[in-house]
Amino acid sequence: MENRTQNISEQLFMLLNLGREISTTTNLDMILKILGDTARDILKADRCSIFIYDEEHNELWTRMAHGVDEIRVSADVGVVGKAALSKEVQIVIDAYKDFRFHQAVDLQTGYVTKNILAVPLLNYENKTIGVFQALNKKEGTFDNIDAELLILIGNYASVSLENALLYERLQRSQIKLINKLSEAAEFKDSETSAHTKRVGLYTQLIAKELGKDAYYCNLIKLTSPMHDIGKIGISDEILLKPGKLSEEEFNVMKNHSEIGYKILYEKDDEILRMAAQIALEHHEKYDGSGYPKGLSKEEISLAGRITAVADVFDALTSQRPYKKAWSFEEAISFIKQSAGSHFDPAVVDAFLKNIEEFLQIKQKYQD
Ligand SMILES: [Fe+2]
Ligand SMILES: [Fe+2]
Repeated sequence: MENRTQNISEQLFMLLNLGREISTTTNLDMILKILGDTARDILKADRCSIFIYDEEHNELWTRMAHGVDEIRVSADVGVVGKAALSKEVQIVIDAYKDFRFHQAVDLQTGYVTKNILAVPLLNYENKTIGVFQALNKKEGTFDNIDAELLILIGNYASVSLENALLYERLQRSQIKLINKLSEAAEFKDSETSAHTKRVGLYTQLIAKELGKDAYYCNLIKLTSPMHDIGKIGISDEILLKPGKLSEEEFNVMKNHSEIGYKILYEKDDEILRMAAQIALEHHEKYDGSGYPKGLSKEEISLAGRITAVADVFDALTSQRPYKKAWSFEEAISFIKQSAGSHFDPAVVDAFLKNIEEFLQIKQKYQD
């Protein structure tokens, strides 16, 4: 009895501690690791794993697991599958004598499962979003009290997972929306959607070569395709004119930078802030002879300087109704010659170091 009381106070302490740790962590994988470790310690289990339910493929995969790499199983078999589909707690006393147990994972990993506790993770609509599993209790087997404890810890996992999944979904649709916006400008222009896609990938490559972190590289890949969005504000008469533009017409055309900035700029949104800056600055030149403001050198944002090289390179090597495509050699030598005048020499260097990759992108995403 004394032992049991001691146990309970220990468990309570661990649970309180868990709440504290979780509330100060925002990263989903960190949260799941804390939950997995705590469940293992409280239940005195050998290992734990947290499966996510992939509804589309009717599979469960481990986003967190002790001792193994990612495991993916069909939701139609095994104890975790049973927990996921029935939404009921599963307690297995002797795995190899239990009809619910599926040996495939043991065979694959070499692990010997003896007993199992699996609880479903449900969202606010009572739909299964995953399964929390504990394996091999060190002394004895899992009981109802263990199940209650794992359900309690599982609640934290459900909330964290649901939030993260929602956020990821939101982010995916935001990215789709951004790409659609980039394509919108092309409807009015002779540019193609392959052009904007390539510019995104080129800018990402250059940023990486310049030592920028993965976050920045992703951000510029996402935002540089929107550089010409302001063209939706230019009349078709000018935009689609087959011949050369008069000086007056060209001056109107130049407005697309500032129009793009006005469309995109949003003070509190990092993605749209960078997109707006690129739209505004992609025709600025390193020596100050560009437009709309005649900024020079570091007055132009790095994203603007990178996009300038990527955009010009792609435009030169693409065919347009009014011009033939230049060869790669011609385009490369033009970019080289323009280092220090049109382009930032450091960006040109980074471009030259990745020519091979540029050619691959060009081949992969053709007009
Ligand atoms: Fe432009
Ligand atoms: Fe462009």
